[in-house]
Amino acid sequence: MVDGLLQVEGGRPLNGEITVRGAKNLVPKAMVAALLGTTPSVLHNVPLIRDVDVVSGLLSLHGVSVDYDQAEGVLRLDPSKVESAHMADIDAHAGSSRIPILFCGPLLHRLGEAFIPDLGGCRIGDRPIDFHLDILRGFGAIVDKQPQGIRLTAPDGLHGTVIDLPYPSVGATEQTLLTAVRAEGLTELRGAAVEPEIMDLVDVLQKMGAVISVDTDRTIHVEGVDELVGYNHRALPDRIETASWASAALATHGDVFVHGAHQSDMTTFLNIFRKVGGAFDVREDGIRFYHPGGDLKSIVVETNVHPGFMTDWQQPLVVALTQAEGLSIVHETVYENRFGFTGALRKMGATIQVYRECLGGTACRFGQRNFYHSAVISGPTPLHGADIVVPDLRGGFSHLIAALAAEGTSRVEGVNLIDRGYEHFMSKLAALDANVTRLA
Ligand code: EPZ
Repeated sequence: MVDGLLQVEGGRPLNGEITVRGAKNLVPKAMVAALLGTTPSVLHNVPLIRDVDVVSGLLSLHGVSVDYDQAEGVLRLDPSKVESAHMADIDAHAGSSRIPILFCGPLLHRLGEAFIPDLGGCRIGDRPIDFHLDILRGFGAIVDKQPQGIRLTAPDGLHGTVIDLPYPSVGATEQTLLTAVRAEGLTELRGAAVEPEIMDLVDVLQKMGAVISVDTDRTIHVEGVDELVGYNHRALPDRIETASWASAALATHGDVFVHGAHQSDMTTFLNIFRKVGGAFDVREDGIRFYHPGGDLKSIVVETNVHPGFMTDWQQPLVVALTQAEGLSIVHETVYENRFGFTGALRKMGATIQVYRECLGGTACRFGQRNFYHSAVISGPTPLHGADIVVPDLRGGFSHLIAALAAEGTSRVEGVNLIDRGYEHFMSKLAALDANVTRLA
């Protein structure tokens, strides 16, 4: 079954104004945090994306009342009647989302048990959950692997612990925060992720009554409290979606104003965008991204955890780099298999070679193993339309950008995947004067 088919007439600049709302990688976590409160929570700037639907469904399954005003972007959550849910229902509801794993801490606090189905998520690497399970065991949970998934219990409740993260994992940091805030005593998390979305989750939990501090050496300290209440919070804007549209403006010689974008979350992206030859104006209510004319310049980029160049920013940028003069190098150090999308770009005329070596930067976890995690892009190469299939969320958006930049017609299959993280992307393309038709 074709999971959404788009026909794109490329070769036209994207020009116009769009709005980006709350971050896909914060909003679902803040929704889960509401489970920890004894009173209702309100979340603002919530986008209409599939991940929000999935988490709303999972929360409702557990007895939380969820009310979403799409137009206003306001989500109201009342967790006063939390109850267990059947494993099969959780599995059916979770879909391809990885979010169920973050329900563990809150459900163990509320009900003494939790269930994780086998997780989905984009196929950009193995996506293990070993850090998560070790962390939950550290808090005193009993982890029981069963055929349909993993069942966790906490007969003696949850107590604070000391965690040394082998890698600054975003999910593992969120797992720790969502469990430690109501655990008995103190928790210390060393080597934590400190992405803007993590700091926004800290703000949410602090509003609920949590006691959390984040040291400059990435150590997070949490003092467990007896009760948390509901929050009222406005989610930070989606810096990944913003960077995706910025890269689209560059690749199509366009001019796009992203209403709602924050400069402070995007410092590293803006530096790279400028060095490649893009231009941007930061305004009160957003950021204007545009191609100022002249040649784009090749560059060496290494992805890293915050405040480095984010792994989710590299796929859209690679499309713009196919139009830059000379050889660009991208060294992906966060996920082992995140250049799958370059196959379609080669089919459209790009010259991209992927390598197992750590190119352009320092040695990373993937250097001495069989992972093609470095790419060299030679440009500029004119792109021509082709039939392409979307591989994952961010790679899929990059395929869309490539089709918009390419001369001629492209048919992009599997675009429904893009709904997971890009709110109203069809109407945004229309607002930017793109010539696209939904065929299925
Ligand atoms: C979050 O994924 C984001 N997803 C990702 O965005 C983002 O790319 C990533 O953080 C890094 O910033 C959401 O927030 C929903 P990680 P997460 O745990 O938490 C390894 C998008 O398109 N690891 O920081 O799953 C893992 O294999 C998505 O919006 C373990 O080894 O990322 C990876 O190499 C894509 N064991 C590295 O850590 C574990 O138990 C980073 O993963 C957990 C992670």
